[in-house]
Amino acid sequence: MTQKVISYLNQKGGVGKSTILFHHAHYANEMGKKVLVCDFDTQGNASTALLGDDYQEEQFGTVGAGWLLGKQNVDEVKIATSKNGISVIHADESLLDVEDMDIDDVVSLTGKNFELLTDFDLVLIDCPPTVGKRVIGALYASTNVVSPIEPRKFAIDGLASLIHTIMAVRDDRPELNFEGVVINRVNSRSPQQKRNVALIRESLGKQVFLSELVEREPISDAVEEGVPVWSLRKSGSVTAAAREMKAVLKEIEWRLS
Ligand SMILES: Nc1ncnc2c1ncn2[C@@H]1O[C@H](COP(=O)(O)OP(=O)(O)OP(=O)(O)O)[C@@H](O)[C@H]1O
Ligand SMILES: [Mg+2]
Repeated sequence: MTQKVISYLNQKGGVGKSTILFHHAHYANEMGKKVLVCDFDTQGNASTALLGDDYQEEQFGTVGAGWLLGKQNVDEVKIATSKNGISVIHADESLLDVEDMDIDDVVSLTGKNFELLTDFDLVLIDCPPTVGKRVIGALYASTNVVSPIEPRKFAIDGLASLIHTIMAVRDDRPELNFEGVVINRVNSRSPQQKRNVALIRESLGKQVFLSELVEREPISDAVEEGVPVWSLRKSGSVTAAAREMKAVLKEIEWRLS
């Protein structure tokens, strides 16, 4: 199996990058794939969900994402592991310093460090809500990009510049593919949102995933508890949330193949 490296990317915050990535990691892990999550966001949401609140102390001596992006040297590449066996290169404080590096250094050092990560079938990168050097480093290491968005007017406005950034890297790195946009946090009772969803589908066509994710509390509860939504105790909304999440993940895996 050739390794896929997927960046979850949108410069807009709170659209579901970390949430969908967290579920993708579990989904692929349960399918028997060797999964690595790289957390490029200083908020450390993916790291916390996978490793717990005190991940830096708990996982003492493991490499952080500042290393991966070329900010730090380490003697030994020791990678943290979640309780389910998902590998995690967690967020660390040196991530912010990456923004002060020369962009050519970020790209070349990140590429070199990624070459060491050959043990994994699937690598998922959680990007911060910016378009800085960490994101460019992530794109140069990626084979695919998935962009969650919310069905709101300003979300649509930001998409053009996002796709422009991805295409600019793609000029240099043809193996980079834009898998498309996942519409997340849909409120099915809002007519305004319905119009926005229709507008997104009309303007982006096949780049929009067929499956959508409704805003459902069990999804945020599950991430807080550090488990995928399909592992929560069954109830009507858990079942619906799990079904919708698995449909999105199935579509991601299908688009990747
Ligand atoms: N479908 C959903 N239903 C309910 N809550 C959701 C859903 N998707 C995301 N959330 C919640 O919305 C918040 C933002 O999601 P998340 O952290 O995944 O976004 P993000 O794009 O990674 O944000 P940031 O850019 O700040 O990293 C979180 O509290 C998450 O639990
Ligand atoms: Mg996030």
